[in-house]
Amino acid sequence: MMSQFLENVDKTRIEALNAFKEVADLEALEKARVEFLGLKSKITELSRTLGTLPKNERPSAGQAVNKAKTLVTQAHHHALARLEAAKERSDYLDVTLPGRPPLAGHKHLISQTMAEICRIFAKLGFSVVEGPEVETDYYNFEALNFPPDHPSRDMQETLFVSEKLLLRTHTSPVQIRTMEKTKPPVWVVAPGKTYRRDDDITHSPMFHQVEGLVVDKGITMADLKGVLTAFAAAFFSPETKIRLRPSFFPFTEPSAEVDIRCVLCQGQGCRLCKGSGWLELLGSGMVDPALYKFVGYNPDEVSGFAFGLGVDRAAMLKYGLSNIRHLYEGDLRFLRQF
Ligand code: PHE
Repeated sequence: MMSQFLENVDKTRIEALNAFKEVADLEALEKARVEFLGLKSKITELSRTLGTLPKNERPSAGQAVNKAKTLVTQAHHHALARLEAAKERSDYLDVTLPGRPPLAGHKHLISQTMAEICRIFAKLGFSVVEGPEVETDYYNFEALNFPPDHPSRDMQETLFVSEKLLLRTHTSPVQIRTMEKTKPPVWVVAPGKTYRRDDDITHSPMFHQVEGLVVDKGITMADLKGVLTAFAAAFFSPETKIRLRPSFFPFTEPSAEVDIRCVLCQGQGCRLCKGSGWLELLGSGMVDPALYKFVGYNPDEVSGFAFGLGVDRAAMLKYGLSNIRHLYEGDLRFLRQF
């Protein structure tokens, strides 16, 4: 009786395990499940007949049936996992498709432009230096000869971090920091981020400048004009003309606004240059000797010039961008063009 029962259990188990091993699709699997684990399956049938066995044989017979049930259930799980994984693979894997190369990013247009400007000045003999974006009133204003009541020291114009700290409104504080650290001759450019409470189609609250500072023996305004002419030719095009217009900055004397010949109409007069034929590019001037007393230079021995170039503006002019926001919105359709 007992040996017959156990033989049946074994037979059923082997049959079931083979069936699950061989099923080729989910439909066949479901059929096999009903056949070997369902309510009318042989195993269920065998559990039912346990009661007909002599009492002393029941425990070991029961164990054999349970063991078989466990193994067959496991086989069902494995088959299910195997078939589902295969289905998923076949859903998305087309081995005939070409591979996808990893996406390579590139430098943002502003970083590219800043690097290009620095490269041009490096060829003219300038070194590159940097300064902090969070500045003190001393470096941003006081040592640059700004009077205490200058309007740009107002909360309306400048972004303050605390009473004593502010976001630099220009890269000119790097002039002072550089002169404090080095003796003349100084030939440096200082690229970086700058901040002002400005926001319209040509102004962004965060923007970029490249500061230039030269302090050496016998520097005149002719050097300023020569360097900036060479820069404009290298950055825009070899024929680009510049002009100097009188201006005012507390830290340069005399001061000059530098314009370039309109990149769009070549000076004929158009919408971009508002009919004037010229585009404003940067502020500049001869270093005001008042600065030298802050840094311990002797104004009788050296003279110099400085300039501050708007990188965003230079990029907009060079690439014909109409809205500065394109540079800051992170739209890849725009950024990928450069
Ligand atoms: N710092 C000035 C500005 O941001 C530009 C400037 C720099 C002018 C150096 C003269 C000399 O407007």
